[in-house]
Amino acid sequence: MAKFLNASLSKFPKGFLWGTSTSAHQIEGNNTNSDWWYWEQNKPKNRKWPLEPSNKACNSYNLYSTDFDLCKKLNNNAVRISVEWARLEPKQGTFSKKEFNHYKKVLKDAKNKGLKTFVTLHHFTSPLWFYKKYGWHNPKSAKLFAIYAKKCAKEFGDLIDYYITINEPQVYLYMSYLKGVWPPSKKNPFLAFITNLNFMYAHSLSYKAIKSVNSDYAVGIVKNIAWYEPKNKYNLLDLIVSKFLYFLGADSLLLPIKKYLDFIGLNYYFSNRINFFKNANPNDIVSDLGWWIYPKGLEHVLISLKKYNLPIYITENGLADSKDALRIKFIKSMLQSCLNAINKGVKLKGYFYWSLLDNYEWHEGFWPKFGLVHVNLKTFKRTPRKSFYYYSKIAKLNSLKI
Ligand code: BGC
Repeated sequence: MAKFLNASLSKFPKGFLWGTSTSAHQIEGNNTNSDWWYWEQNKPKNRKWPLEPSNKACNSYNLYSTDFDLCKKLNNNAVRISVEWARLEPKQGTFSKKEFNHYKKVLKDAKNKGLKTFVTLHHFTSPLWFYKKYGWHNPKSAKLFAIYAKKCAKEFGDLIDYYITINEPQVYLYMSYLKGVWPPSKKNPFLAFITNLNFMYAHSLSYKAIKSVNSDYAVGIVKNIAWYEPKNKYNLLDLIVSKFLYFLGADSLLLPIKKYLDFIGLNYYFSNRINFFKNANPNDIVSDLGWWIYPKGLEHVLISLKKYNLPIYITENGLADSKDALRIKFIKSMLQSCLNAINKGVKLKGYFYWSLLDNYEWHEGFWPKFGLVHVNLKTFKRTPRKSFYYYSKIAKLNSLKI
């Protein structure tokens, strides 16, 4: 009996998807037609962010095949990447055949290597024309995005197994419209509110646009969700505050678009403990970015998503850890939380570690190292870390017991 119980608690369901996650701007390099590139290259002296520009990043625009070889070495059966709107639609209404062909080659290469493709259409970056003339606070933004999404569905078809419309809409609006540390560098709660609505509208419009090409395509969104809990579980006020903040960061966006979701992509990085309205994380274990590592939080989030009755994929989970000192323990304990959730009936179908490579961590530049693979930014040589081999064993055996 004990043996049987152990097996069920360490084995993942048959067909579980194992992968890693990246995004175009963070790894490709020379994304010159995008808002981010423009913002990085035209930095006024008094602006602190970004700490450095993305430049050639990891040169994955050219080295994508090497990257997919690494995925194979990881024994992965899936991969999450993004395609770059700024490349595919360099001018409003004009699509680039050359760039569509490029990404078709990329996707074919992934498929030939036995990887199911999860592809994000918008991962924080937009074309420069969109940034200059519209922006995500503009009421036309959703329709413009849906035109691009439909074109992607027509061109890429089933080279994409899972269409992801937008990555972390609420992180985008927080960083770009509240904190002002990402383009368009605004601190305007009203615009943030409007942008949130536009993202929901953009998701539902693009969902319908992709489905109009082929109703069989699987379409979802990627949502970052942090867990909130009171420091003292008997403090009613903190409990209410935590529940409210959790609702704001999860269900307030997912509930209104529920009928336009075939699956939920969950990005989980950290949790927040609340004490008299303030953050009171114990910070016993933290990443290089100071994010509190709390695997139990992932289990709570997964269980809370059960009510949607949809397949769930963890589309990002990882940590900045330049010494690779915590990564193995991190992966192990996060996956234990996944297993616990699966055993409690959560329809968790896959896990993607963020990230395959050390890459451009937005306003922070290149110093935070999230990769299973170290990248030399001059030679672009890729060197797997110890944790790479650990993750590859788990994926091979489909089990935490390795
Ligand atoms: C984003 C990634 C980012 C990662 C680590 C997520 O919010 O989707 O682009 O690199 O977190 O900060």
